[in-house]
Amino acid sequence: MRELTAKDRERLLAHFLSLGDDDRLLRFGQVVPDHVIENYVGMIDFARDTVFGVFDDALALVGVGHLAYLPAESKARTAEFGVSVLERSRGKGIGTQLFERAAMHSRNTHVTTLYMYCLARNTKMMHIAKKAGMRIEYAYGSADAYLTLAPADQTSIVTEMLQEQAAVFDYAIKRQAQRTTQIIEAIMPSDALA
Ligand SMILES: CC(C)(COP(=O)(O)OP(=O)(O)OC[C@H]1O[C@@H](n2cnc3c(N)ncnc32)[C@H](O)[C@@H]1OP(=O)(O)O)[C@@H](O)C(=O)NCCC(=O)NCCS
Repeated sequence: MRELTAKDRERLLAHFLSLGDDDRLLRFGQVVPDHVIENYVGMIDFARDTVFGVFDDALALVGVGHLAYLPAESKARTAEFGVSVLERSRGKGIGTQLFERAAMHSRNTHVTTLYMYCLARNTKMMHIAKKAGMRIEYAYGSADAYLTLAPADQTSIVTEMLQEQAAVFDYAIKRQAQRTTQIIEAIMPSDALA
């Protein structure tokens, strides 16, 4: 899992466009059409928000967590978190890891409350939220989940730094492996590879 930048917009778009109607409803609160997703991805401000991504070996984005900072009210600072994992990669802990990373990053950037909007029937997300100790308020089929964060400390800062370094290294290895495969495919006739 690594922090994404504006260079990752194309992969982000591919990730969100491959979500089916029900997943779009769960992720965005409504079944958003493709052009709304295109706008959403185009408008992500990477200088203000933080987006985390989990890549598979082919460097497709299989998990995305978007941490959006809400305007600060005096000393209280809230960030809203939204997450999606592609169907084929679910049940492997990716959603939980994205949540935990977002919570740690929030702590380290002086966020006091992590907020998540969910449909109340989203039992998987509710499970992840409850596991993290989030306070959940239900109303009219939706749920607002809040996590009060402890202030950053040396451990949270160093842990996040090490995680990001490991993630960048892991991504570089996957990219190198992908390039090597492409070179081999380009120089070898396809029947020799079969
Ligand atoms: C919600 C979502 C992000 C979870 O991703 P994931 O990678 O499968 O999540 P994880 O594997 O980390 O954890 C899933 C947890 O839910 C539990 N779970 C699975 N099915 C469940 C169900 N029907 N009811 C309750 N819990 C369930 C699993 O046991 C696991 O908990 P555990 O780690 O304690 O065993 C993914 O399903 C998704 O993208 N859904 C569509 C978009 C969405 O709902 N986004 C959230 C709104 S912001």
